[in-house]
Amino acid sequence: MAIKMPAMVIVGGFFGDEGKGKIISYLAMKDNPSATVRGGVGPNAGHTVVYEGKSYKLRMLPSAILNKQTKLMIGAGVLVNPDVLLDEIKTFNAGSRVLIDSQCAIIENIHIERDRGGYLKERIGTTGSGTGPANSDRVLRIAKIAKDIDSLKDYVGDVAFEVNKLIDDGALIILEGTQGTFLSLYHGTYPYVTSKDVTASAICSDIGIGPKKVEDVLIVFKSYVTRVGEGFLPGELSEEETIKRGWREVATVTGRVRRSAPFNFELAKRAVMLNSATQIALTKLDVIFPDARGKTSFEALPKDAKKFIEDIENSLKVPLSIISTGPEVFDTIDRRSQLRIMA
Ligand code: GTP
Ligand code: IMP
Ligand code: MG
Repeated sequence: MAIKMPAMVIVGGFFGDEGKGKIISYLAMKDNPSATVRGGVGPNAGHTVVYEGKSYKLRMLPSAILNKQTKLMIGAGVLVNPDVLLDEIKTFNAGSRVLIDSQCAIIENIHIERDRGGYLKERIGTTGSGTGPANSDRVLRIAKIAKDIDSLKDYVGDVAFEVNKLIDDGALIILEGTQGTFLSLYHGTYPYVTSKDVTASAICSDIGIGPKKVEDVLIVFKSYVTRVGEGFLPGELSEEETIKRGWREVATVTGRVRRSAPFNFELAKRAVMLNSATQIALTKLDVIFPDARGKTSFEALPKDAKKFIEDIENSLKVPLSIISTGPEVFDTIDRRSQLRIMA
């Protein structure tokens, strides 16, 4: 029997946009996984991958897009907008690598219209991508699913079966979460949340993986916190202060300006608990410590950046295994082998 190598789940630790796209694209190029599988809500997500000066945006396909040996799958719990998906498949010429579960529910124009007015837009500040209304139709059991859609027929299959089989064969699999812990419908800042749970357990369920098949949960935190849409943001800074600190960001999907706050240890602790995180990835270290930019070893980091990392590890009691020091895939410090030796 093959040696089993369980899967790794990657989740956002704050309110989404922690830079999961960057971390997943790094792992996909470094570890060469057999497949990367999307869980999470749907095309409300926006991921950015930067490689050799070029920037790639993704809303439906997994962020492993640049590793052509990695299969790109979408789990049954994820909502599919066929237009967005087909457009990405075309842009990245990825057709031969894509498999979407036949049970993915479909976002139609009517869902997008319902998401772009009234309570959802005005009160919650949704992304307007139709995900909330489509999930509500799914709960009512009136949503269409992928196997009903002719334009998707070349890409539809049994993702749960394929992923479980790959894991049983000893393949390396990355399960890609979207949004962030405090946008979870159950564990987030209700009602200012997304339309599903998005913690690690939910990502596994979206894909059809039982909890015993997951060894590692990698939680991604940004070096500061951002939030788009309505809802409480502890320690929120004024827009003026956000700009002054260089933390101003514009959302990938909606073009909205993100609100910001300093790194929040209490939120981070709770996120570690809710996801049973085993490792942490920290992004945008260079934004708060410019001398960290592009560094690829921990030793080369400025003293105050090292202290920030040690404070996070001491407070959260989880090893900080990957540190992102710039937008490029390989602007990354990978401490996984050292941490394994220390363990
Ligand atoms: P997720 O929604 O968590 O996947 O994040 P994202 O990939 O969508 O991030 P977002 O769209 O918010 O984009 C973040 C921006 O920061 C992108 O342009 C990334 O290329 C960039 N970025 C990611 N990591 C780093 C980093 O460590 N340093 C810097 N300077 N930029 C980064
Ligand atoms: P919805 O998911 O579009 O219904 O939006 C609900 C809330 O989640 C809003 O505050 C959105 O801004 C937020 N949200 C949903 N997806 C993302 C994401 O990928 N990044 C950041 N915020 C998101
Ligand atoms: Mg994003």
